[in-house]
Amino acid sequence: MNIVLTGFMGVGKSTIGQLLAKELGYGFIDTDIYIEENAGKKIPEIFETEGEEAFREYEWETAQDLRFADNLVIAAGGGFEVKPFKNDEHIKIVYIKRDIGSIIRKLSERETGRPNADGKSQEELMELFRRREPGYESGADIVLDLSNSEISPEDACKNLISLIK
Ligand code: S3P
Repeated sequence: MNIVLTGFMGVGKSTIGQLLAKELGYGFIDTDIYIEENAGKKIPEIFETEGEEAFREYEWETAQDLRFADNLVIAAGGGFEVKPFKNDEHIKIVYIKRDIGSIIRKLSERETGRPNADGKSQEELMELFRRREPGYESGADIVLDLSNSEISPEDACKNLISLIK
């Protein structure tokens, strides 16, 4: 089985994903790191030199590469299209949901190296979130709702394991 974690930037997909992989004895892949390693460039550089469209192509190729893998936890980037993973009984798609207020607080703390967050206003982030949220919801097999919660990544991981089983 593979578990794909989706959700907006800053919700904790990579942190929770790494804990989850350890608990389950699965491998872990962060699609952003996978793309950076394959492209030989950091994400801001890909956005700058090739554009966001090209980055989405890299994401699409990544989905094709990982579709038939096994025993992986995959932390997907916030704009990752999960369609290639849908309707596959060996893949569970988990939407990690948080309220937009806490996401904005986190993303505004400092520069994060995310071209779709750094230098963006709260309104722009809210607008992007509103556009994406229906896709996160409808794409998911499981929703891990961490809205308005101070839960630790370890406890969030435990809750997720109980939802998966
Ligand atoms: C993006 C989210 C990032 C990364 C890229 C674009 C987005 O991933 O893929 O900077 O458009 O939401 P994280 O959600 O892991 O930060």
